[in-house]
Amino acid sequence: MGGMNPFDLNDHDAYARWRDRKLANRPASLDELIVEIADPARPTPTERDAVHRACSRANLAIFVTSRPESVVRQDLKALAGHFGLRRLNHNEGADDDGVTVLAVAETAQWRNTYIPYTDRPIHWHTDGYYNRPEEQIHGLMLYCETPAPRGGRNALLDHELAYIHLREQDPELVRALMHPQAMTIPANQIDDHIERPARPGPVFSVRDDGRLHMRYTARRRNIEWRDDDVTREAARRLRALLESDSPWIHRATLQRGQGLICNNVLHDRAGFENSDEQRRLLYRLRFFDRIDPHFTAIA
Ligand SMILES: [Fe+2]
Repeated sequence: MGGMNPFDLNDHDAYARWRDRKLANRPASLDELIVEIADPARPTPTERDAVHRACSRANLAIFVTSRPESVVRQDLKALAGHFGLRRLNHNEGADDDGVTVLAVAETAQWRNTYIPYTDRPIHWHTDGYYNRPEEQIHGLMLYCETPAPRGGRNALLDHELAYIHLREQDPELVRALMHPQAMTIPANQIDDHIERPARPGPVFSVRDDGRLHMRYTARRRNIEWRDDDVTREAARRLRALLESDSPWIHRATLQRGQGLICNNVLHDRAGFENSDEQRRLLYRLRFFDRIDPHFTAIA
């Protein structure tokens, strides 16, 4: 970027150049971001290039393996590592290997009160918005072991497009969402089990490497937006975009053997219904790393 940052609100030219290239490369449909990976533990250079290309365009790729019966959890970690995703967040709910099983909790346990482990819809968000600042989630992988018989569709929106949407309307909306107190998660309100101090932070922030990070939830309860007209308006317009039928939003239901690898883009999940024979099961891996399109794995 030659020292210029497109996310600097004072540098319109750098922004305009980045925006034009971003929109010119925007995929018309999710199909353009699907990459077949025969063996997820050992992606070929061609397969890796395709994932990098998708992520450099849209911050996300959908990978598909034709041999889901042979994929184990360790393979997902290996696959992520090929894209520089190595530092796993051992979040509450994760197993010892750092992989989280997303399935409806069967017995009375804290997971029952925590929406990812139910069949209910999940609002738009980026993962880990309640994490401490130094443990923000920059990379995310989901992998579908078993889809629900009905429902469970994800919506996906590249957070850089959400940024463009707001900046085009008024850069002050973006400035408000970059404020360090723009969005606060109050203490101890995520659920009864996890005690946590209040987490104030920006919605949009710029990483040390110049890339954009987004921290967001569309939850209405237990979120404190900065008490300021511009912040409220920015949050309202962001929500309006997410609730719209914008062609920038991709929608897909992951099928068995399909996964998402992304730079923690905005996403939601529709509710779903299990049957006795088929119970939805996804694996989730959260990383402190971001997929770097210029990253070259050492084979
Ligand atoms: Fe999520």
